[in-house]
Amino acid sequence: MELELARFDPEPCGFPRPRLSPLPDKPDLTARNWRSVILSYRARRHYRHFTRGRYALGEAYRLSDVNRDGALLAPAYHCVTMLDPAMALGADIVLYPLQPDLSPVLNKLDELLAAYGKPVKAFLATHYFGLAKNFSNLKKWCDGHRIVLIEDCSHALFTEAFQAPGTGIFGRFVSASPYKFFACEDGGLLFSPDAQLLDTVNTRSAGVVPELRGIKRIIEKSRLNGPTACGHRLDRRAACKIECATAGCRIRADHAVFPAVIALLG
Ligand SMILES: Cc1ncc(COP(=O)(O)O)c(C=O)c1O
Repeated sequence: MELELARFDPEPCGFPRPRLSPLPDKPDLTARNWRSVILSYRARRHYRHFTRGRYALGEAYRLSDVNRDGALLAPAYHCVTMLDPAMALGADIVLYPLQPDLSPVLNKLDELLAAYGKPVKAFLATHYFGLAKNFSNLKKWCDGHRIVLIEDCSHALFTEAFQAPGTGIFGRFVSASPYKFFACEDGGLLFSPDAQLLDTVNTRSAGVVPELRGIKRIIEKSRLNGPTACGHRLDRRAACKIECATAGCRIRADHAVFPAVIALLG
């Protein structure tokens, strides 16, 4: 299946470099943090780790029987890494339309399915740009058509220890890209509320040398960009937000990423 691709080059846009580290500047040794570490350790059977979210998506597709005989319903607005793993499995991809708020146009889905006429095995639904969407009706539609709902949390903070509110609660599989939120080399995550579904997903660690190489690259990068830890080189607006957050003020936080940052700092 031929797909038309438009490449986005961010270079000419001159986006500013991030100035606020999402990591706290000292280890969080509070009881609350230990509790979340213990809970996440207990919940580890529900998670598998990858270098990138795209590989987690690939496993979710495979486990949903996306292949030559089973297509993927994917959003018309996407990047190629969301589709690549399905194409690698030889699957057809049917693109569904999105509303201006980037949630699926539900009343077009039956029409789309009928027009395609062949089996569809999985539906990829994305919380774009960290804005959590309510996929409850979509979940009902998927259940009614025996289609696996895969929730894409690549743009929302989703880890074992913290899930952005409203994310990771609808999908049979949830994929995420924690590396996008932390100063680390890699980090993709696959989650399923039903741990047994992940029984056949075996991953292996990269090994000590690549891990050390990753740490070296982080140090090199931090030298290149100057200090990023909290308290250094923060612009006044960001500094003010952190002050409010740590003082426990109520801040209007529609954006799912922002509460995550507050939780990390808190
Ligand atoms: C919405 C969305 N989903 C999934 C991915 C794949 O994420 P990763 O870079 O972790 O493979 C991307 C890539 O940026 C993305 O934008």
